[in-house]
Amino acid sequence: TVSMLIDCDPGIDDALALALAAGSEALDLRGITTVGGNVGLDLTTANALALRDFLDLGDVPIVPGCSGALVRGPMDAAHVHGAGGLGDAVLPPAVRAIADGHAVDFIISTLRDNPGEITLVATGPLTNIALAVRKEPRIVTWVRDFVIMGGSYTRGNHNPAAEFNILTDPEAAAITFNAGWTTTQVGLDVTLTARVTTRVLDRMRDLGRLSSLILPSVQYYAPITAESGPALHDAVAVAHVIDPTLLTLTPAEVRVETAGHYTTGMTVTDFNSPTPNTQVATHLDVDRFWDLMITSYGRLAGR
Ligand code: BDR
Ligand code: CA
Repeated sequence: TVSMLIDCDPGIDDALALALAAGSEALDLRGITTVGGNVGLDLTTANALALRDFLDLGDVPIVPGCSGALVRGPMDAAHVHGAGGLGDAVLPPAVRAIADGHAVDFIISTLRDNPGEITLVATGPLTNIALAVRKEPRIVTWVRDFVIMGGSYTRGNHNPAAEFNILTDPEAAAITFNAGWTTTQVGLDVTLTARVTTRVLDRMRDLGRLSSLILPSVQYYAPITAESGPALHDAVAVAHVIDPTLLTLTPAEVRVETAGHYTTGMTVTDFNSPTPNTQVATHLDVDRFWDLMITSYGRLAGR
């Protein structure tokens, strides 16, 4: 099993990534830290708390972090994820509270106490990660693997150049890519190839209690047809941690544009660089990704 710490901003696809983690036998979830992103920090934290109970995640600590970007003004994606962040899904209110402390310190201490053991996954803006790198640069040597959902080498989604997680805090993303570790980057190039089509949705219908999270959130996220539907970006990053054979990774040097007129937040990717700092996801085995998702959801639903 792989020990994972996830920094996230739930968020529909963050929630469905947590559900994947909860249903997997291969993952040991060591903590959830939250960041402002899709919706404000209060809501991403409240959603994480509600999800911990709903997904039977036991007593995994939930620690809130930064509410906004290092330098820039607020940005959110409530127009995509709904005002509360989970579309039309309504979860029972959380029973238990957040853990003491700040996400940045929790990330540092978890990595320090378990050198070489923890895979750190970030599925929101990189604010907490950047501050952790600045506060304790040795985390880059303690981490087992660092995986993000963010960026792209071909396109943006929030605008033509930039993906939402990078654009929300480009300075934090720049610090993170420049930190001296190898980032595994799961970007839009691969996440947009796995869509919840009507065929996939049909496989998700028979999931008991879990359906009250999955169906109203996914159906809110984007229109679902035979050919297209929402992409569950963040779930692809967690799927990679569970099964590293799903993605093809290609080394490249990735730098984040922070001073562009049209291109701020772009992840500028050089596949020919002699000094790569990133393993960039360039292909996803879509069929096996959905098999993993449906199997894990089924396992969770059958509990
Ligand atoms: C990313 O942005 C957020 O809206 C999603 O949760 C995902 O992490 C996709 O661009
Ligand atoms: Ca997210």
